[in-house]
Amino acid sequence: MKILGIETSCDETAAAVVEDGRKILTNVVASSVELHQKTGGIIPEVAAREQLKYIIPVIEEAIKKNHQDIEAIAVTAGPGLIGSLLVGVETAKTLAYTWQKPLIPINHLQAHLYANWLKKGDKPKFPAIGLVVSGGHTDLVLMKNHQQIKWLGGTRDDAAGECFDKCSRLLGLGYPGGPAIGQEAIKVKREKIINKMKLPRPMIHDDNFDFSFSGLKTAVLNEVKKQKNPDLPFLAYEIQEAITDVLVAKTKKVAEKYQIKSILLAGGVTANPRLREKMTKALLGYNLFIPQVQLCTDNATFVAACAFFNFHPVSFSKIQADSSLEIEEVIK
Ligand code: KG4
Ligand code: ZN
Repeated sequence: MKILGIETSCDETAAAVVEDGRKILTNVVASSVELHQKTGGIIPEVAAREQLKYIIPVIEEAIKKNHQDIEAIAVTAGPGLIGSLLVGVETAKTLAYTWQKPLIPINHLQAHLYANWLKKGDKPKFPAIGLVVSGGHTDLVLMKNHQQIKWLGGTRDDAAGECFDKCSRLLGLGYPGGPAIGQEAIKVKREKIINKMKLPRPMIHDDNFDFSFSGLKTAVLNEVKKQKNPDLPFLAYEIQEAITDVLVAKTKKVAEKYQIKSILLAGGVTANPRLREKMTKALLGYNLFIPQVQLCTDNATFVAACAFFNFHPVSFSKIQADSSLEIEEVIK
């Protein structure tokens, strides 16, 4: 079955056609990130207007101007920025009505996990644990099957991606912060890594699956103020180490507690090479899935894949953009 996925939850306007939930036929992503770089972050109103500009050309490119083969449409209903979400949802409703195809509303956070189905080879097996680390969320979940997702823990304040973004801004390294910090960290001189200041690893030893990243941001601010000429590569390196250490430790803790058959990583932060390396080492012996780098950040392939494995069409009048959906809320 060929499903057209549409994703407009934040600053990417994306459409993709995926066959049987696993094979990517097309994947088109337009990003307004350059506009947001000028303001050092996303202004929701600006993002929504860009969505309007790109949505039709992006879909046209994804379906190659031919919708005859498309059997269903899947669209991100939430969470995200409401103005951006509305563009995708209303466009999807119009297309589904015009083409007379089933329409499946999708939870963006659940969808991120499906980037792990989009590769050749074995599929993830249930029960699985999932770590979703994006710009707005840090969630650890237990997936008993496609429909039953249990939330185990998450951040009490900033998300991991948000911490990268805010720290990057403090260091003047630009937006989005994750890739910017990663690039700066590579320049660190190895001898500086030994015996130098260490940033906190918040809640790393706590006996729960929760996170907290706002204190880390404050610690970085204090370091920047303390140092006359901040050592940017070293600070970037330490920020990346602190965030990734906590993510790895908590994921490992969950893996040790539950009887699981797979571990799924997902979300923009999973594109981070250091996180990928550390997770692979720490979770040796587990059936670990990490999406291809270009499928970690927002795109529509995982929206279409999620719809294939959760095929619950909903009538047009009942589908609404919902900016505050939680990861457990599988839309049925
Ligand atoms: O999943 P995503 O594309 O959008 C949301 O759903 O939020 O995630 C975006 C987040 C941003 O905070 C960005 O800084 C972070 O993912 N990110 C990274 C990397 N690439 C994107 N963080 C660390 N390293 C990266 N290479
Ligand atoms: Zn996302």
